[in-house]
Amino acid sequence: MAEARQQAGAGTPGPLRLHVKTYGCQMNVYDSERMEAALVERGYGLTDDPGEADLVLLNTCHIREKAAEKVYSEIGRLRALKAARPGMVIGVAGCVAQAEGAEMLARAPAIDLVVGPQAYHRLPAMLERVARGERPVETDFPAEDKFDHLAPDARPRRAPSAFLTVQEGCDKFCAFCVVPYTRGAEMSRPVARVVAEAEALVAKGVREITLLGQNVNAYHGADGSGETGLAGLVRRLATIEGLERIRYTTSHPNDMDDDLIAAHGEVEKLMPYLHLPVQAGSDRVLKAMNRKHTAEGYLRLIERIRAARPDIALSGDFIVGFPGETEADFAQTLALVEAVGYAQAYSFKYSPRPGTPAAGREQVPEPVKAERLARLQALLSAQQQAFQASMVGRTLPVLIEKRGREAGQVAGRSPYLQAVHLEGTEALIGRVVPVRIAASAPNSLAGVLAA
Ligand code: 5AD
Ligand code: SF4
Repeated sequence: MAEARQQAGAGTPGPLRLHVKTYGCQMNVYDSERMEAALVERGYGLTDDPGEADLVLLNTCHIREKAAEKVYSEIGRLRALKAARPGMVIGVAGCVAQAEGAEMLARAPAIDLVVGPQAYHRLPAMLERVARGERPVETDFPAEDKFDHLAPDARPRRAPSAFLTVQEGCDKFCAFCVVPYTRGAEMSRPVARVVAEAEALVAKGVREITLLGQNVNAYHGADGSGETGLAGLVRRLATIEGLERIRYTTSHPNDMDDDLIAAHGEVEKLMPYLHLPVQAGSDRVLKAMNRKHTAEGYLRLIERIRAARPDIALSGDFIVGFPGETEADFAQTLALVEAVGYAQAYSFKYSPRPGTPAAGREQVPEPVKAERLARLQALLSAQQQAFQASMVGRTLPVLIEKRGREAGQVAGRSPYLQAVHLEGTEALIGRVVPVRIAASAPNSLAGVLAA
């Protein structure tokens, strides 16, 4: 937010002030930026302090119960601020807004508007309704594309790395997941729009773009004469001069087609890092999860990807304690993790989500989930540390993104998405430079500028 405020020009705030708080995934980060841009266009200034805001937007996440609960505790805090600042408008956006809709207004009277992720372009009109004393709720999946109606981000930007949403929604219906309900059916933005947005970002100094989608490798965008998949989009983006790095997240194993695997071997700008969630290692559990692939199928896929790009670093998501998971099933998750060797991963206790198929099934007891999570995380963090340590002595190309925590330091990312700290001046920001790695920690590397 501090950065966003600078982008809007902290010296010239509009008469009204906006504070956006973002929860959850990168797509919410991207959506928040787009909402900020649209409202800055309409005269809002950005503030880091909700206490001085005229409009507070919470961009929420519904993926697990804990994430959804955070919203109500935040609204409790905001209610006190609102009491001291009459006229403050509180809006709830994102996936909790989509899932709970008008119920939120009943549960929390401090809320003035509720807007689902596909209706952000209606925010300005909703704010006018709030001014007239209404409490609007918009949770439709309108036929029009919100991105066509949201003002492009006209703010100057200097952060060298940016997110760009190219695909939204999910048709997979994993039995644990709310996304098909909160983000709707799969839809892809047309190639030309994505390319235009990428070019505009590069013109503003962006050097790395992460393509976002709930199922980004299912991307199928119209391309003048026909349609292209994610590999085609990546190849097209790779021709943009000045764009140095391309990433994408998050993917389903069944959508890793041959062309995309080949692109990992051929497109130099496509970074050797892939977030490819498998969730579990037991075929019985994978079937109960409706993942539509087996553990063996996943392992074979990883082999093919590694054949195309031997140094690729893998990341994943895991759920422990899914309904019906036995100790033997869980042991197969550990075995799969051993077989793959992850550079990094996220793991969660299964959290029953209202309206999803697995929510009503018999649950694994909480202490069992906690114990399995601890064992899985111990293994994953040992793998992560080993991966980090294997970088020491190597020289990696690092995209310098920002000033470091200490004076005279800068920080950036390796091709494998590792944070790298080094001595250097701000002049390096936005450049890819060789860095000799001298030390590793679980979540970062330290090095010196080489040559
Ligand atoms: N409980 C726990 N984890 C979940 N995820 C999605 N839904 C749930 C749930 N109900 C995890 C999956 C997914 C990641 C984004 O969040 O691992 O890949
Ligand atoms: Fe959360 Fe999923 Fe919605 Fe992202 S898409 S905000 S992770 S529920």
